[in-house]
Amino acid sequence: MTYEELKAGFVKVYGDGGDIRGYFAPGRVNLIGEHIDYNGGHVFPCALNTGNYAIVRQREDRKLRFFSANYPRLGILESSLDDLVKKENSWTNYPKGVLWAFGKFKGMHVRKGFDIYIYGNIPGSGLSSSAAMEVVIGTMVKDYEGFDVTPIDIALLGQKCENDFIGMNCGIMDQFASAMGKKDHAIFLDCATLNYQYVPLVLKGCKIVVSNSNKPHSLVSSHYNDRRKECETALADLQNVVDIKALCDLTPEQFEEHKDAIKDPICRQRAKHAVYEEYRTKAAVEALKANDLVTFGRLINESGDSLRYDYDATCFEIDTLVEEARKQEGVFGSRETGGGWGGNTVSIVRDDCIDAFRANVAKSYKAKTGLDCSIYELEVGEGGRRIF
Ligand code: GLA
Repeated sequence: MTYEELKAGFVKVYGDGGDIRGYFAPGRVNLIGEHIDYNGGHVFPCALNTGNYAIVRQREDRKLRFFSANYPRLGILESSLDDLVKKENSWTNYPKGVLWAFGKFKGMHVRKGFDIYIYGNIPGSGLSSSAAMEVVIGTMVKDYEGFDVTPIDIALLGQKCENDFIGMNCGIMDQFASAMGKKDHAIFLDCATLNYQYVPLVLKGCKIVVSNSNKPHSLVSSHYNDRRKECETALADLQNVVDIKALCDLTPEQFEEHKDAIKDPICRQRAKHAVYEEYRTKAAVEALKANDLVTFGRLINESGDSLRYDYDATCFEIDTLVEEARKQEGVFGSRETGGGWGGNTVSIVRDDCIDAFRANVAKSYKAKTGLDCSIYELEVGEGGRRIF
């Protein structure tokens, strides 16, 4: 949809006039560094050029009205700034949670309500459309109210919304990538300090290909919260024998030396993933900077295998998609990306092999799972912003 079409959509639902503004925030894909943002590690995501649009007009009263162009049958959903509480199964929990977080954590209380029209174009699930929603709303609130917050503050408020309003115990990666994304760059982010570096995403002779498993995933947030607890248990055990703040503070050598302090074997496996994933992520960024795609691809494969075998965060469909991708000519590496248990994979594929990759992977994935996958080349865009 063009900006004119988005605005026309807003006007059709809410009527014309007043100060109508438009905002956008992207989804994200993570190249490597999975499930370590909440373990004090480094991650390497980039922003997509698809995301959530919010077309908005501030009201004179305290009403909130929401309309999603993706779910037009739901019509206008009404709420109020005086009723910022979570409702079962409503997408409006995300915008409401962000408004709540501004007040709760920054003492920034929004004075007047909004008419909000949302349109999202992130394909499938698993590419952080919820973070894109949080960041687009945060960007809009800052702009209308003139609140003194940075894009990183907006990312942190989005995470607060997820953790304390929605009940998903996520780390900071998705919201950070959505707020801070830079065209044609990935973000090498230290999640312990929020120091970051933009790394140009130039892969000589190759593209990053995203494949969506189209597996409708359920229970992701409960599996996810379980993994967090397992990591916390492993950390507490390790802290009896070594002075660390987070699992990713350990080198692989230190982990091997102290791992028996972790009593539960499952928690030990989870910690192993975190420690080695941190090591792989730093090595992968170095490899990419040196244009060493063989090493970059190998590390991507190792990350994927660790997610499958040590972190137990994949599923049959994802395993199939990764296996089929790795069989293709010109593939340097392939793995699941994001929260897990479904969603998407990333693969590094030689330019001249992409057409065959698409055709072969789609065919064998369908034959083995009965599902159609969607395969496309990654286009990296800018972070959250006002568009008109
Ligand atoms: C989800 C979370 C992120 C991160 C990833 C796994 O996307 O929202 O914080 O933990 O999973 O790397």
